[in-house]
Amino acid sequence: MKPVKVGLLGLGTVGTGVVRIVQGHQEDLQSQVGSPIQIDKILVQNKAKSRSLAIDHDKLTEDAWEIINDPDIDVIVEVMGGIEHTKAYILEALAQGKSVVTANKDLMALHGPEILEQARENNCDVLYEASVAGGIPIIRTLVEGFSSDRILKIMGIVNGTTNYILSKMSREGASYEDVLKEAQQLGYAEADPTSDVEGLDAARKMTILSTLGFRVNVALEDVAVQGISSVSKEDILYAKRLGYEVKLLGIAERQDDQISVSVQPTMVKASHPLAAVNGVFNAVYVHGEAVGETMFYGAGAGELPTATSVVSDLVAAIKNKKLGVGGRQGAMVYKEKKLKSDEQ
Ligand code: NAP
Ligand code: HSE
Repeated sequence: MKPVKVGLLGLGTVGTGVVRIVQGHQEDLQSQVGSPIQIDKILVQNKAKSRSLAIDHDKLTEDAWEIINDPDIDVIVEVMGGIEHTKAYILEALAQGKSVVTANKDLMALHGPEILEQARENNCDVLYEASVAGGIPIIRTLVEGFSSDRILKIMGIVNGTTNYILSKMSREGASYEDVLKEAQQLGYAEADPTSDVEGLDAARKMTILSTLGFRVNVALEDVAVQGISSVSKEDILYAKRLGYEVKLLGIAERQDDQISVSVQPTMVKASHPLAAVNGVFNAVYVHGEAVGETMFYGAGAGELPTATSVVSDLVAAIKNKKLGVGGRQGAMVYKEKKLKSDEQ
């Protein structure tokens, strides 16, 4: 049976998880898509680097175009990160009729509409479930699960690194610097962890969630952002004594025709379900006009949880291509937004 050939851009934390899941679940994946899935070529920065899994060295390349321009490759999985060069690879892959799966929230928050438009024009998918909340299928839930409803509020913990840091500071009295280092070693933090601790990673995720949930274009610069770097151990312990946990919350609300989106450290009452979300876990609360309150919980970062979302997207992209329905995934091109701040 002819395999579906995948070009994998990146073999770090997430890319390694993708290889492990595709290899480990091959039989089950094949039964779903009707063909073997073969990771054919893998882009890395340094071929000589030692890897935590056994990999055929001949598959590795340091030249992205060798993968993008390979006519035998059907799908691109982008888990390398970065914005401008990654955007160029993805746009060209789509132009060549290859569907794309990405975990890159930086890219999708900034250039999502343009990339999705390119996908639509070429009848290909761009699927990006892993870009928000790691292993929680929140994008699919917002786009498909709540397509019948009018979302009023999306609120949650959408950054695993900062939640890991805040939880350990609160529960163990650990120091900010030590726990950040741990989060980096565990593969939770971004290549530049400033985007985690200063709230930018969460803001990018809230841009994506609010755009999809409210079906309006929300731009990253419209999100009010404050990170956790100025939150001290004393702040956390003081809040705890008063019956609160400090959490980095993303909050997106719709009131009448207005949208507001923010990310900030927030004192959450200890009895609230979000106060019990600890470690690398994320939780997203969605309030719909008809459905009422719902909440989604799971690992927000890390190798296998994130790779689960990536490989599920890969399965969906392959199925869609076979059915000839690529390019019909949720649009991100909606009517113009109206933020509360526009009114002031
Ligand atoms: P990572 O561990 O730093 O891995 C990045 C991989 O891409 C490495 O294999 C690296 O090669 C390769 N790479 C980076 N820049 C490259 C370049 N210019 N040319 C060629 N290869 C390059 O990153 P990660 O944590 O897996 O994250 C990857 C993406 O997933 C990012 O967009 C991140 O935001 C997103 N994400 C991560 C998580 C998570 O838990 N880590 C969760 C959700 C989403 P070398 O191996 O040779 O260095
Ligand atoms: N650095 C991100 C986090 C990875 O800690 O949540 C998952 O998107």
